[in-house]
This record gives sequence, structure tokens and C-alpha cells, in this order.
Amino acid sequence: MSLMSNLSTSMISSSSSSFLAPTNFNSSRTQRVSVPLKSIKICKCVATPQEQQTAYKTNVSRNANISKLQAGYLFPEIARRRAAHLLKYPNAQVISLGIGDTTEPIPEVITSAMAKRSHGLATLEGYSGYGAEQGEKALRAALASTFYGDLGIEEDDIFVSDGAKCDISRLQVVFGSNVTMAVQDPSYPAYVDSSVIMGQTGQFQKDVEKYANIEYMRCTPENGFFPDLSTVARTDIIFFCSPNNPTGAAATREQLTQLVKFAKDNGSIIVYDSAYAMYMSDDNPRSIFEIPGAKEVAIETASFSKYAGFTGVRLGWTVVPKQLLFSDGFPVARDFNRIVCTCFNGASNISQAGGLACLSPEGLEAMQEVIGFYKENTKIIVETFNSLGFKVYGGQNAPYVWVHFPGRSSWDVFSEILEKTHIVTTPGSGFGPGGEGFIRVSAFGHRENVLEACRRFKQLYN
Ligand SMILES: Cc1ncc(COP(=O)(O)O)c(C=O)c1O
Repeated sequence: MSLMSNLSTSMISSSSSSFLAPTNFNSSRTQRVSVPLKSIKICKCVATPQEQQTAYKTNVSRNANISKLQAGYLFPEIARRRAAHLLKYPNAQVISLGIGDTTEPIPEVITSAMAKRSHGLATLEGYSGYGAEQGEKALRAALASTFYGDLGIEEDDIFVSDGAKCDISRLQVVFGSNVTMAVQDPSYPAYVDSSVIMGQTGQFQKDVEKYANIEYMRCTPENGFFPDLSTVARTDIIFFCSPNNPTGAAATREQLTQLVKFAKDNGSIIVYDSAYAMYMSDDNPRSIFEIPGAKEVAIETASFSKYAGFTGVRLGWTVVPKQLLFSDGFPVARDFNRIVCTCFNGASNISQAGGLACLSPEGLEAMQEVIGFYKENTKIIVETFNSLGFKVYGGQNAPYVWVHFPGRSSWDVFSEILEKTHIVTTPGSGFGPGGEGFIRVSAFGHRENVLEACRRFKQLYN
């Protein structure tokens, strides 16, 4: 508020500020007017001084499922520790190879399409408001042909979204609280946390570091990071991420064929997260729908975040094939559509213009270049840890390197690395008990930072 009230005038569009009153309304809708801020009533927020704050409580009880969650979500917790480290060492040159956020600029061919759409919004012809909740037809068609060309996935099976994480939670709303679920252990934390929030689980059990009622499918170097399905209990939902975050492991065609058969035998639904599919170097499936029969048992969620630097732009998609049915024969896609229409009003039109540009021939080439850059970073990190004698996994098919510190606590290793090198990594145990003893090193970073980080790793562990 203080920022606003310090300004004396502001340029605002005459059609954009109904909540600021009064405005000098101008009948020309595209004309921009300069309105003295004095004539605009802006409410001033005055914070209550600490001493006047009361211990008043509402009568609303806290959502018991949310209260089951342990501490914070992993990545905010890492950010908190990074901030505390900076308080301790204000001059430290901290390098973040932790959270897995992209660092390189979005290719111009993509940003120029977004800029064009954005400028169009300032004109009568180019303006658009709410779009189709499921996404723009052209983008759905381009996604279908680019990623699922010969796989029988059609445009109307694809739901464009504001990102894979958001879709994971919306899928949980579709499933409700009466389903059981399985996850790879370790795995991306959003699956477990959204399941807890939905009430699908029991309490967190500190002795085993697991929530009751979740089937943790252990993925270790010993089983090639693919669970031994003969020991996995039946669940309704199976979250499966390949290439995997955090281990970097990618499932082979044979393994995914086993997984689809396992789901079919049990009448389960697989939620397949392919957010890193374009990072695949080996000849493994990029999509679960490459496996015959998968359309009857699987949903796939994907994202532009790590392909085009869209972590801030926000754009993803989820495929729910019309062949996928609940036990009463009702199509899952129709319920997903209902949730999308109720909980989400469609992805930003500007992001969707960017998504469409990503899928043009120039855009695809530009994305490959961005991915190639991060894959080179990955190689540098893998070589560094190999040269230091560590057992290193991942890296080949994903932008993550999974480094083994046998017998040590991941959080201790995380703290040691941060304290001694000012490098932020991610402790493996943050991804589930199966991640204990590992550190995830992300390859998202500027080249000079990755090289400097590797120099510091060598100093520490040589
Ligand atoms: C496996 C996995 N799925 C989904 C996401 C979230 O993607 P989005 O940015 O599209 O929400 C991430 C982000 O790190 C991820 O690692």
C-alpha cells in the first residue's frame, strides 16, 4: 500500500480498474488515461501493533488431514535453511543446486509469441477473457500430435493446465478420500502430501518415516530403481514418475509393461508423471501410452516447466484417455473435466500462446537446446562425483544426480555441504525414507555456477 500511495500519478487502462473508484471513465475502450492518484481511493492498511494483538481464536477447527503433514513442504524448508545460512554468512556466495528451478532464459521464439498475445490483449480484436477450461483447441491438437502422434491419444483427451503439480492435486480431488495409493519411494513429495491432505492416509509414523495407509514402493540401486511389484500391495491409485525425480532413473519398456499389467490385474489407476520425458537419452518410453493397454489404466501428467523454463510462466497438461473408466463404468475424464471446470478456469491465455510456440518446429528445436544445456551440466556434476569415488545414479535421463553417502543421514550431508561449501542441495530423505543416505544435486544452474560448485565439491571431498 505504501508504494502505491507514494506515487503521485499512474498510467492505468480505463477498462481495467473497476475496483479503483472513481475513475475518469472514457468511452474509448482502448485509450489509456493518466489519472491523478489523489482522485483514486485506495484503502490504507495499518498493521495492528504487536502489543494490541489478542489471542482470539475462531471456532473453526483445523483440517485434521492437513495437521498430519510433517513440518513444511520440502522445498520451502530448504529455502528456510538457505536463508538461515545467509544470515549466518551474509557474504557467502551461495549456489543453489537444490530446489530444481530452471535458470536459463526462455528462448526468444517462445517469449515473442507470448509478448504478441499479451499486446493483443490491449486491442478489441486481440482481447480474450475466460477461455475453454480444458485449454485452447490449437494447443490441445499440437500436444496430441507432438507427444502422442501414433499412440491413439486424441485432442479431447488432453487437458491443458497451469502445471503438473496443480493437476496432481486436482486429480486427488477427483479420487477423493476413500482411495488407497502407492508411490515410488523416494518420490516427488507432492504425491504423498496431496494424498495426506485429501484424507487418504493415516498419521505419520515416526519410527518408519511413513504415513499409514500409503504403499511405499521401494526404489533402490539394488532393484534398478524399479519396485519389486510382487511385494507391492494392491492400491487404487499408483503414482509413478519416469524419468524419476529424485533418482533420475527411467523405467524401461519391459518395466512399464509390467507396471501396466500389475495395474490391470489389480484394477488400479496409474498416475504417470512424465515431467522430464524430454530429458530421456536412453531408448525408453517417453509416455506410458507407448505401452499397449495403458489407455485403460493410466493418466499422464506433463509440463513445460523443465523444457522451456516455464516454472514461472506456468503451463502443463494432463492426458485422461476416454477409455479409462471407474468401477461403475463412468469415464474418469468426465469427472476430471468437472473438477477442472469447478476448481480451475483454464491456463493463462498468454502461457498457452507460449506453449503453442514451444511446439512449432523452431520452438521444439529451442527447447532441445535448453534441455541440452542442462544435460551438459548434469554430465559435469556426474563426472565430478565419479572422480571423487562416489556411487552416482541418475543424470542420463533426467536433470538430477543422485549421490550415495552410505550410512549417513541425508540432512547431515545436506548441512555439511551447505556449511562447508555454501552449496544448497536436496537431502534424499525429503523424498521419502528410501532416499535416506542420498543427496539430490540438480543440474539447473548457470554454467559458471555449476563449474564453481563442482570445484567446491572437489575441495570438500578430495
Ligand atoms: C516429478 C515432477 N512433477 C511435477 C512437477 C511440477 O511441475 P509444474 O511446474 O508443471 O507444476 C515437478 C517439479 O519439480 C516434478 O519434479
